[in-house]
Amino acid sequence: MDKIVIEGGNVLQGEVRLSGAKNAALPIICACILTGGWNCLYNVPRLKDVQTIREIMSNTGVHFEEGEDGGLRINSDDISHHEAPYDLVRTMRASILLLGPLLARLGRARISLPGGCAIGARPVNFHLRALSAMGVDMQLEHGYINAKARTLKGANVFFDIPTVTGTENIMMAAVTAEGKTVIENAAREPEVQDLARMLRSMGSHIEGEGSDKIIIEGIKTLKPVAHHKIIPDRIEAGTFMIAAAMTGGHVTIQGYRQDHVTAVVEKLQEVGAEINQGKEEVSIKGPKTIHPADIKTMPFPGFPTDLQAQFMALMCIAKGTSIIRETIFENRFIHVGELKRMGADIQIDGNQALVRGREYLLAAPVMATDLRASASLIIAGLAAKGGRTEVNRIYHLDRGYERLEEKFQSLGAKIWREKA
Ligand code: EPZ
Repeated sequence: MDKIVIEGGNVLQGEVRLSGAKNAALPIICACILTGGWNCLYNVPRLKDVQTIREIMSNTGVHFEEGEDGGLRINSDDISHHEAPYDLVRTMRASILLLGPLLARLGRARISLPGGCAIGARPVNFHLRALSAMGVDMQLEHGYINAKARTLKGANVFFDIPTVTGTENIMMAAVTAEGKTVIENAAREPEVQDLARMLRSMGSHIEGEGSDKIIIEGIKTLKPVAHHKIIPDRIEAGTFMIAAAMTGGHVTIQGYRQDHVTAVVEKLQEVGAEINQGKEEVSIKGPKTIHPADIKTMPFPGFPTDLQAQFMALMCIAKGTSIIRETIFENRFIHVGELKRMGADIQIDGNQALVRGREYLLAAPVMATDLRASASLIIAGLAAKGGRTEVNRIYHLDRGYERLEEKFQSLGAKIWREKA
């Protein structure tokens, strides 16, 4: 298993370009099951999770052709199998996103129930309840969801919690369903909006994405899309911004979307960073003194849960105390134990972490436990004193960040990958 080694203390300087968004690419790749012919995607990030969804879809008969610089062509003319097996789904829960498209295309789907993961139980009850309302017959047996639907019917769906993949699954099931589907308390994330853009390019009648109410009029058939560029990864953008603030550096991030990072920019200005935003690029200068700031993770447009661990690393060396509240997942403080091994002063009380800033963190061998915790430990290592931080089990990182250590190297960090 690889590990990443960081010699802390370097100030990050320079420019870095974002990759395409993992959480937009995954549903959009699944949506290509909905049409015949070739769908052509651009700016697809080269990630383990993208490899995994490709492997599962190839097993159903879908063909992939890889172009250069993030181009990916997808053809599901020969799709015939409707199964996503346990050994692949257990490595990537987002495989649940195949449920809607397979039902829409084949009328059947057998998907392994995605288990929980490090950050929480991750149930999919909202997905299943909504699909039942659309006329899907669902049996849960032997760890699998066996779903069948002669025809999908439009329905009024209300989500207790604005579930991102739940909203995406129902959108993909609804676009060729009979009649109208209304999703209330829908997720508003930019990745949901990017999927809606793709479905509209396929000819679907969809409106309201980005709000909490999405309305879809089902139509018979959809057409393949000749060109869809995946939106940039806002979580990667936030990760670089926080790293720049952490090291007191000056970094310009290219290919970002200003409207996707408002909450993060506000918080970083609160801690004292200087941020200049252009249309396509943003530059951030880290503060001499990092001031403390409280955060509470919320659905978009609130502060994203996927940046909570990274922001916590920054607060570990703030001049004062901050409170971090995690409201989305029940167990998303696993990185705290590893940060404490680097000298951080953090007290957890339920879904709140009280972080007392220290003058510095100390380099140490640490263990990555989930995707975003990996990024948090790398950021901490970039600023840590006293030698080398080794982040083990870095396969978590490769699921969601494309060549992160190379990008940090290009910004002047002393960071490299080693065989553990
Ligand atoms: C998506 O996960 C993202 N993954 C996550 O990113 C992200 O953290 C999360 O949304 C929140 O923004 C992808 O898009 C592939 P949810 P998702 O359904 O859809 C509860 C990363 O690091 N819930 O919005 O699985 C759930 O337990 C990953 O890139 C139910 O109770 O999240 C959670 O508490 C991590 N029943 C809350 O809702 C359901 O049926 C929000 O979950 C569905 C969700």
